[in-house]
Amino acid sequence: MGEIEKNGYPHYMLKEIYEQPEVIKQTLKGRLIPGSEKIVLDDIRLTQRDLDGVYRMVIVACGTSYHAGLAGKYLIERLAGIPVEVEIASEFRYRNPAVDKNSLVIVISQSGETADTLESMRKAKGKGVRAFAITNVAGSTIPSEADYSLYTCAGPEISVASTKAYTSQLTAIYLIALKLAYLKGGIDKDAYRQRVEAVNRLPGQAQRVLDCSQLMKDLAGEHKDIEKVVYLGRGLDYALALEGSLKLKETCYIHSAAYPAGEFRHGPIALVEEGLFVFLLATQDALIDKTLANLKEVKNRGAYVVALAKEGNREIGKLADRVIYIPDTLDEFTSVLAVIPLQLFAYYSAVARGRNVDKPRSLVKSVSD
Ligand code: M6R
Repeated sequence: MGEIEKNGYPHYMLKEIYEQPEVIKQTLKGRLIPGSEKIVLDDIRLTQRDLDGVYRMVIVACGTSYHAGLAGKYLIERLAGIPVEVEIASEFRYRNPAVDKNSLVIVISQSGETADTLESMRKAKGKGVRAFAITNVAGSTIPSEADYSLYTCAGPEISVASTKAYTSQLTAIYLIALKLAYLKGGIDKDAYRQRVEAVNRLPGQAQRVLDCSQLMKDLAGEHKDIEKVVYLGRGLDYALALEGSLKLKETCYIHSAAYPAGEFRHGPIALVEEGLFVFLLATQDALIDKTLANLKEVKNRGAYVVALAKEGNREIGKLADRVIYIPDTLDEFTSVLAVIPLQLFAYYSAVARGRNVDKPRSLVKSVSD
């Protein structure tokens, strides 16, 4: 691919990060009609009758798509009340998973060609389970073999580090969770309507989050010599922490780890020493008191804490070293906004370290064998 396709951006990764507001819009287009509360997922042809016998869902994926799947678990369980497990495809594929015709397997894959995900789907189908694919590449193998498929509308993703595909997967999951909630009557009408409105606001809000780009560049530049980073979060913020950590590892080649903040004191807190760089993800109002307690714990031990919080959260500004604010939205939908500063931090850190941003060492875009 030549320079022209980068549209003036120095790397595909940055271009793709900036495309995210439009990608979210495209994934919603024609499916979530502004002013109407109906979610149109005609392309998947999943009806009430299809769901009648489904008591459990299993989401199977790899890498960033797996992280989107973890968010899917929180969302589907919370909104539709259906139990969901999330499995790494390379594990699911080689064991004897207890799935049957009352399960629905959801496979998530940007490329639609990841071998472990494809073989997991085939294994599940071999046991009589129906498969629902969320993919980005039309005509790829996974959706062509699935029973139902939903395409995300991220467009071609060139950078090996996935950014816009992840936000489009999250957006698709928001639609699916809401659709399931509607079909199963999982939430009341007002709560449903409020959530549809919140999802409709996401493209504009994502555009605003991009304003933090310079801030993330400065932060990455100031800390370009750090050798480890810890990401902490609770609930959906834990799923997001995993994605932030993966982005940093693959683009910068430095060690980073993500922990559920409440689990941290069961061992990993021993890692904290003076100056340890910690990203504290605090976008969940329902868990904010617990998360602030974790912030105090690590600050008291000398960590340097960058917090990510919703606008209006003043308390956190008094405790953290730096706070990055995202626009206010319902807890369920913060990840699609909060991931953007984390992606920008990984990107600018990789640039500051002179890494091969779009093609990190040892990685390929699609692990298809
Ligand atoms: O194409 P897929 O979504 O199936 O790919 C899965 C992973 O290989 C992929 O998400 C990988 O982790 C990315 N490099 C992450 O940025």
